[in-house]
Amino acid sequence: ALSGHTQAQYLVKTQPMKMAAAEGIWKDTADPAPWSAFAIIDSYKQENKFEINIPYAMSFLAYSKFEGGLKGMETLQKEYTVKYDSVVGEGTNYIPPVKTTYWSFRLMIGFGMGMILLSLMGAYLWRKGRLERSSLFLKFLLPAIAFPFLANTFGWVMTEVGRQPWTVFGLMTTADSISPNVSGGTILFSIIMYLLLFTILASVMIYLMVHEIKKGPENLHGIDSKVTTDPFNKVGA
Ligand code: HEM
Repeated sequence: ALSGHTQAQYLVKTQPMKMAAAEGIWKDTADPAPWSAFAIIDSYKQENKFEINIPYAMSFLAYSKFEGGLKGMETLQKEYTVKYDSVVGEGTNYIPPVKTTYWSFRLMIGFGMGMILLSLMGAYLWRKGRLERSSLFLKFLLPAIAFPFLANTFGWVMTEVGRQPWTVFGLMTTADSISPNVSGGTILFSIIMYLLLFTILASVMIYLMVHEIKKGPENLHGIDSKVTTDPFNKVGA
C-alpha cells in the first residue's frame, strides 16, 4: 500500500491521463479531490452515470495532503491535441480504455486491502492463541492464496492499458512500436513455447505442493523431532 501510494504520487506528475482514467475523472475535479470508490462509467458519453465518492481521499493519494485538484480527461485530451497531434497524427485519441483502467486499479487495491485485513486478523487471532482453532478464518485463507497473484495481474493490466496510446509517454506510441522484423508467426511460436513451459512448471509445482500437503503438519515432527511447526515455540526449537 505504501509503495502504491508513492507510485500514485509519481503517476499524477508523469502520466496524468492514466491517473484520470484510473479514477474515472472526465472533468477537472474540485479542490480537494474526492476518491471514487465506485462508478458506472459511460465511455461513449464521457460521463459517469453513478458515483460513490470518498471526500479528500484522492488529494491525499495524489499529493499526500488534503488539498489539490486533478485535471480531467477532457482537459488533458485538449492539451495533448495541441502538444502531440503534430507528432503522432491529427485526431489522435489520448484517452485510454477507461473502464478497464478504472476497475483493474480498484481490484488491485481491493485485493491489497483484503490481504492487509486478513494479516491483521491473523495476527490478532495468533496473539489470542486462537489461530489454529478459527476454522472459518483458516478456510478464508485458502482462496486468499490467489490474492497476491490477482493484485499483481490487475496492477499490471492497469499500468499497461492505462498508458495507451503511448509506449513512451509523449515520445512514442504503441502503434509505432510494432517491430517490422518480427512476424506474427514468430510471436505465435514464442507464445506457444511460453505456454508449454509454464504449464509444465505449474504442473510440477501443483504436484509437489499436493504431495507436501498430503503429509500433513504432524509428519514434520515425525521426520525430525527438533523441527516444530511453530517458529516461536522455543521449547521445541
Ligand atoms: C493497496 C494499495 C495499492 C495502491 C494504492 C497501489 C497503487 C498502484 C499504482 C498507482 C500503480 C500504477 C503505477 C504506474 O502505472 O506507473 C500500481 C501498479 C502496480 N501495482 Fe499496485 N497498488 C496497491 C496495491 C498493490 C498490491 C497489493 C499489489 C500486488 C501484490 C500491487 C501490484 C502492482 C503491480 C504489479 C503494478 C504494475 C507495475 C508495473 O507494471 O509497472 N499493487 N499500483
